[in-house]
Amino acid sequence: MADIQYYPGHMDKTRREILNRLKIIDIVFEVVDARAPLSTQHPDITSIVKDKPRLIILNKSDLADATALEEFETHFINQGFQVVRVDSLKGTNIRSIRPLAEKMLEAKFEKEKKRGREKRPIRALILGIPNVGKSTLINRLVDKRVTKVGDRPGITRHLQSIKAHKNLELLDTPGVLPPKISPKQRALKLALLGAIKDHLVPRDEVVIFGFQVLMDHYRDAFEKRYDFTIESDDPVAIFESIGKRIGALKKGGLIDYDKVMERFLHDFRHQQFGPIILERPKDDV
Ligand code: G4P
Repeated sequence: MADIQYYPGHMDKTRREILNRLKIIDIVFEVVDARAPLSTQHPDITSIVKDKPRLIILNKSDLADATALEEFETHFINQGFQVVRVDSLKGTNIRSIRPLAEKMLEAKFEKEKKRGREKRPIRALILGIPNVGKSTLINRLVDKRVTKVGDRPGITRHLQSIKAHKNLELLDTPGVLPPKISPKQRALKLALLGAIKDHLVPRDEVVIFGFQVLMDHYRDAFEKRYDFTIESDDPVAIFESIGKRIGALKKGGLIDYDKVMERFLHDFRHQQFGPIILERPKDDV
C-alpha cells in the first residue's frame, strides 16, 4: 500500500519543485538519449515546462545512427525547438551549448539591459528521465575554474545551483522524473537500452523487439555480429541460429533461450551492433 501511494505523491513533489524553479530560470536543457529521442522524452515535459525556451540535448549521440538522428533534428526544429547533439562522455559538441543558449535568450537579456538590470548569468534547468546522462553532461559543462556549488540566497532561493561558467548557472532536476513505461513500445525501448529495470518488462519481449529493430534497420550488423544469415524473420528461428553460433545449448542440443537472451541484451547494451536508433520521428510513442 505504501508503495502504491508513494509514486504519485513523489511525482507531485518533483513537479511542484520544477514549477518553483521555472519561475527563476531562463531556459530548460532537456536531455534525451539520442538512440530513442522520443521515448526518452518525459511525456509530460510540455505541460510541465510550458513555454519556457527549451534546448533539446541529444546526448549519447556517439551511440546513435547519424542519418536517423538528422531526421530527429529536423523534426524537433520543425516543432519550434532548438536542438544540439552531444557526446557527454567524450565532450563532443558540449562547447556549442552555452552560445546556443545565449543566442536563444538574446532578446530577453537585451530587454533586461534596456531596463537597467545588471548583466547576470543564464539560469538553466536540466531535465530528463534517469540514465539519459544528466550528471555526465553537468560535469562536462562545468568550467572547473569557476565551479562553485551551493546555495545562492536571493537568487536561487536556497536551491542548489552550479556555476558552470561566468555566463551560465545550472540547476539539476529536483527529484526524479520517472520514465513513463506505457505504452508498451516505449517500455520495450527503455528496457532494451537498459534505462529501466529489467523486471518491468518480460525479457523475451524485449529481446524479440530488439531482433525486430535489427532486422528492420540494421540487418547487416545483426548478421555480422553472430556470423549468420537471417533466413526467416520468425524469432524462434533467430533464437536457434544465435544459440547455435554462440554455443548456447542445453543437454541434448536444445537451445538455451536464457543464455541467448542474456548474450543478446549484453551485446545490445554494449553497442555490438554499431550506431543505432530505435525509433523514427513518425513513430507513435
Ligand atoms: P543520469 O544523471 O541522467 O541518470 O545519467 P548519468 O550521467 O549517470 O549517465 C548514465 C550512463 O550513461 C553512464 O554510464 C554514463 O557514463 C553514460 N553516458 C552519459 N552520457 C554519455 C554519452 O554521451 N555517451 C555515452 N556513450 N555514454 C554516456 P555508466 O555509469 O556506465 O552507467 P551504465 O552504463 O552502467 O548504466
